Order: sequence, then C-alpha cells, then structure tokens
Amino acid sequence: MTHERHALVEPLDLGGLRLKNRIVLAPMTRARAGAERLAHPLIAEYYVQRAAAGLLITEATTVSAQGNGWVNSPGIYTDDQGRAWKQVVDAVHAEGSPIFLQLWHCGRASHSAFHGGALPVAPSPIQLEGEGVHTPAGKQPYETPRALETDELPGVVADYVAAARRARAAGFDGVEIHSANGYLLDQFLQSRTNHRDDAYGGSVENRFRLLREVVEGVTGVFAADRVGVRLSPNGVFNDMGSPDFRETFLHAAGELDTSGLAYLHVMDGLAFGFHELGEPMTLAEFRAVFHGPLMGNCGYSQETAEAAIARGAADLIAFGRPFISNPDLVERFRHGWPLAPEGDPATWYSGTHAAEGYTDYPEHTPTVGSS
Ligand SMILES: Cc1cc2nc3c(=O)[nH]c(=O)nc-3n(C[C@H](O)[C@H](O)[C@H](O)COP(=O)(O)O)c2cc1C
Repeated sequence: MTHERHALVEPLDLGGLRLKNRIVLAPMTRARAGAERLAHPLIAEYYVQRAAAGLLITEATTVSAQGNGWVNSPGIYTDDQGRAWKQVVDAVHAEGSPIFLQLWHCGRASHSAFHGGALPVAPSPIQLEGEGVHTPAGKQPYETPRALETDELPGVVADYVAAARRARAAGFDGVEIHSANGYLLDQFLQSRTNHRDDAYGGSVENRFRLLREVVEGVTGVFAADRVGVRLSPNGVFNDMGSPDFRETFLHAAGELDTSGLAYLHVMDGLAFGFHELGEPMTLAEFRAVFHGPLMGNCGYSQETAEAAIARGAADLIAFGRPFISNPDLVERFRHGWPLAPEGDPATWYSGTHAAEGYTDYPEHTPTVGSS
C-alpha cells in the first residue's frame, strides 16, 4: 500500500469526535420520508449500511414548512419529525459513527403547490430558469418567488435555530448548514439571485448577513465545532453562478473562519455542473482564508481523494453518488475492490418507503484469493 492509499483511512479528531476515517457520506436527498416528512426504519437502515464512513451527513432536511420544495424529503420543524430522526441517530451511533443533520430551506427552488397556493420565498423576485419542479401536484414550471420582507428574516433565522434544537434533542452530533446548490442561503449569498436594497443585499457583506445570522443562531445551540457549512462556489445547479463568485465565496469563507466551525464543506469539483464564469475555485483558495477543517466534494474518486488529503488540500472528502450504489464504499476503498456502477437515477428520489435503489445494493463479495 502506498502512502497515499493510507490518507483516506486515517482517523481525524473533529470537534471532540474521533472520526475513524476521512470518508464522509455526502448529504443526499432520497425522498423516502413520505408526505409527513418523517424518518422511519428504512431510512435508518440506509444510513446504517453506510455507517463505516468517518462522518455521515444526512439528506437535506427542511427547517420550516416554508422551506419545503421537494416531495417526500424529511423535515425537522415539528416535534414528531425530530423524534422520528432519533431512531436514525441511535442506529448510526450503535455502529460507532457520528452523524450531522443537514439544515435546508429551498427558497425559490420550490412551488406554490407546496405552500397551499402561496408563492415560494426568496431574496428577490427572480424566477429560476429550469425544467420545472416536482410537486405534490406533478411537475410544474417554476414561478416568480415572493421576496422576503426584511422583518421576516429574523423568523427564518429562528426556524434554523429551532431545527437545530430538535436535532440536538434527537441526538445528532452536529448540523451542516446547507448554503449550497441554489437554495435559500445560497440565493442570499449570490448576486445572481440577490438584488435586494436592504441590509441583506447589495454588497458582499450584506449578502453574507443572513448566513452569518444563521451560523450565529445555530452555534448558540450546538458548539461551533459541531456546526459545518456547505458552499458550492462553482455550481450551476438550480440556475446559479454569479460573475463575482470568487469575491463572494472568498469573503464568506474568510468570515466563516472566525466562527470556529467544525468544517467548511466546499463542492470544489465540477461533476455536479459548472457555471463557467471564470476559472473554477479550488480548495487551495479556501485553505488560504479558512483555517479550520476543509471538506472537498464532487466527482472525487478514491485516487483523487487520497491525493487531495495526502497533499493537504483537504482534511475530509465527501462522496455522494459512489455511496448510493456502494453501501460498503469504505471497505471497497480499503481493499481496492472495484466499485459497483452508478445506480439508476430513476431510483434516486423514487418515493415513499421504496427500498429499490435505496437499501438493496449488495456489498462486494470478494472472490477467493483477492485481498
Ligand atoms: C441523489 C442526490 C441527492 C442529493 N441531495 C443533496 C442534498 O440533499 N444536499 C446537498 O447539499 N447536496 C445534495 N446532493 C449533492 C451531493 O451531496 C454531492 O455534492 C454530489 O452528488 C457530488 O458528489 P459526488 O460526485 O461524490 O456524487 C445530492 C446529489 C445526489 C446525486
């Protein structure tokens, strides 16, 4: 085994947690939680199957009914939802791994069909250009969202704080604040989607304000070193990409550096779409301004992940799609076993309680003589 092959399976101390390796289960919406948006035993089984990861990050979980925008995704804005998550946390803890909950508000990437006919909310009334959104009433074209009033924003922050409290009560080791992929906090951060003229828009400092307030609120519930933030500086998903992306994300990362976070999770790779508005941002740029643990993601293979950790570009690497069809991804990496092909995208979000394409991927069976 080369030195590089060790890097990914080295342990890491993070916020007083001992991660058994640097491999992270990336947050992935799997849309199995049903209309009530409740975790259940099949969801626990899915995470347990992947619990050899050093850290698990759950699928995005909405902090409020206003934040909903995905059919059958889970929530954590009611006590029942919080309690339902406890069975997942307990099952993962029994495997000896920590688990963070990803906190989500879809903002404009939603539809009035989720909100009793009321428009989805956003920093500014700018419609998402895209194929349309899956709603409880079938696929619908995007709508022009309603701009949140300035005096509504403390309520949005309060929703994140209440969700973090429920996550703590459910036993989660921490939370990841989802400020990536064109959802509400990313919409506020980026000039493409934020055309406000109040204290939450205009300058990069102002566009960062809502994320800063959410971080301040959530770090009042969990210790700061149990709170991660996810950013997607290069992403085009949900019709994102801003001409001033580099300035925006360097500012955000520099400000987040002062919070003592568990980690900054940067989707640096281009495998989830690239806006092509300049040279893509690299982990090295984030390292220069953010001095805490750095997590890379997007299109990594074992080899590129080992190399990123071995050269010090990242402390952790999150894997998404490889973990869908390889529940035993960590063991496959450890032994150099081949990976299963990518799963069928039709089963990624297939619906309530469907085990197909979710918990039915087999583990690798080594042939006689292989290591
Ligand atoms: C089925 C699926 C669901 C996803 N859901 C989320 C999500 O809930 N939250 C999030 O931040 N990213 C989400 N992503 C993005 C992944 O976390 C990850 O960034 C992306 O898959 C790229 O990493 P990979 O190349 O290792 O798959 C999702 C991706 C996929 C394929």
